[in-house]
Amino acid sequence: MTRGCFITLEGGDGAGKTLQTARLCAALEASGIETLSTREPGGSPGAEEIRHLLVSGPVERWDPLTEAMLHAAARHDHMLRTIEPALGRGLWVVSDRFVDSMIVYQGHGQGADLALLERLTALSLKDFRPDLTVVLDIPVSEGLRRAGGRGGGSRYERMDTGFHERVREGFLARARADGERYAVVDATPNLESVSRAILEIVAARLPVSFNG
Ligand code: TMP
Repeated sequence: MTRGCFITLEGGDGAGKTLQTARLCAALEASGIETLSTREPGGSPGAEEIRHLLVSGPVERWDPLTEAMLHAAARHDHMLRTIEPALGRGLWVVSDRFVDSMIVYQGHGQGADLALLERLTALSLKDFRPDLTVVLDIPVSEGLRRAGGRGGGSRYERMDTGFHERVREGFLARARADGERYAVVDATPNLESVSRAILEIVAARLPVSFNG
């Protein structure tokens, strides 16, 4: 059994990752590839419980390192219980957020020490990393407007604009530093154009072709 590929979609709040994750999975399935769509924080029963601790409550609820450790614990469970078994069965896994969100939100955004976050990543994931990470990039004001429109108001969406600007810059910096794993897609155009851009990247980097 050939191991599946692991793709993550990343970006600021309101960039459209959730919809694009679903569309990418549908396109892969139409090309004959069995997929698993998942998300972080969450993606396994235990990690979904941890998610609740992270996305609700007052903005100042956690110290940034505590918060990163909660995300890392959730991710470890998600990887062990959901992602690894699916990849081993040959499925392609598409995750709406993964480890880059922790480095960028807790590190660039909230100020946790980046070297500590890299150590936390090494501890929780060893050398497990996505085969491809697509960063959906959108201006902060537009992302927050879209996120507000879906009535969410999660703890993170309530953080200030400066925080969200640092998050945006953090994702772009990581993508610039490793063009092999990352690709950046402009998430401002309509849903179809963004989907098309994502499919082009996936087909160029991974062993799949999409018809039509
Ligand atoms: P979602 O709104 O995309 O479902 O994600 C919930 C929030 O969690 C989102 O605002 C980003 C944040 N987050 C982190 O701060 N660190 C992480 O490691 C992950 C996976 C998400």
